Amino acid sequence: MRTCEKILVIGSSGQIGTELVENLRNIYGIDGVIASDIKITEQAKEGPFEVIDVLNSQNLLEIVKRHNISQVYLLAAMLSATAEKNPKFAWDLNMIGLFNVLDLAKEKIISKVYWPSSIAVFGPNTPKQNTPQYTVMEPSTVYGISKQAGERWCEYYFNKYNVDVRSLRYPGLIGWKSAPGGGTTDYAVHIFHEALKTGSYECFLSENTTLPMMYMPDAIKATIGIMEADADKIKIRSSYNLSSLSFSPKDIATEIKKHIPEFSISYKPDSRQQIADSWPKSIDSSIASEHWNWKSEFDLTEMTNDMIKNLKKSKKSETYK
Ligand code: SER
Repeated sequence: MRTCEKILVIGSSGQIGTELVENLRNIYGIDGVIASDIKITEQAKEGPFEVIDVLNSQNLLEIVKRHNISQVYLLAAMLSATAEKNPKFAWDLNMIGLFNVLDLAKEKIISKVYWPSSIAVFGPNTPKQNTPQYTVMEPSTVYGISKQAGERWCEYYFNKYNVDVRSLRYPGLIGWKSAPGGGTTDYAVHIFHEALKTGSYECFLSENTTLPMMYMPDAIKATIGIMEADADKIKIRSSYNLSSLSFSPKDIATEIKKHIPEFSISYKPDSRQQIADSWPKSIDSSIASEHWNWKSEFDLTEMTNDMIKNLKKSKKSETYK
């Protein structure tokens, strides 16, 4: 167990945070990782937990000092679909939150920052297949604009103030331990729950909407992997392209049917379709592989097997088939 670092995860009860805290505690110990969110959650029963409003820099500073924090993972953000409904607040949360954390590193109060970016930094004019690291971006969503601006600021803080900030452009993330909230790729999690509960699912994206996706264990491996890599290997200080899977609702429904033959899917695209249509279909992450050895493990079949096996196990008491 490594005891030299003290880690703060902000937004720890969300889709990524829930699993990240668990994994970080396996490495750094329960007390080495402080979970924090805007309100108290069940996670508080599992180890140190603080209520943090990332928009309140004084509150943040006080907690960082009290726990002698050395690394911050900033996961608190508003995702693509919700941000479209509340653009101004989404911008404030996504940007001011980032500044508050970057400034702690600029003042050398903390030594390392992780901040997630997203495939949402790309837009309708971006090449859709195998989207390169460096290309036309022009995001068309509030979320994407905030992530692109955030990337620029991360690089700026690295160049100007020597801030050790590391970032990944996550694709849609799929896991069984935690629920997503407010994203355009959330269907790929909901579909499993509905398939097991009711045997059918009405999808808010059209059947051939292919998007870049990733199974959560791969996302956690990438996140901890980039944070633990030697600093000189991290040559991109905006954010790295990261890829694993690419599939459409139709593709994932076909996989689920291998386990639940009677499963049926219908399609009723809503406003999220337009967001999905502006994003790439697949991502080239060869630079991440070259710089710090990124390699994904799960393909669509393996992910589907694992999701269904674990959801069945964890939901035994509910009405899962
Ligand atoms: N999963 C996110 C969303 O759909 C993309 O980063 O908003």
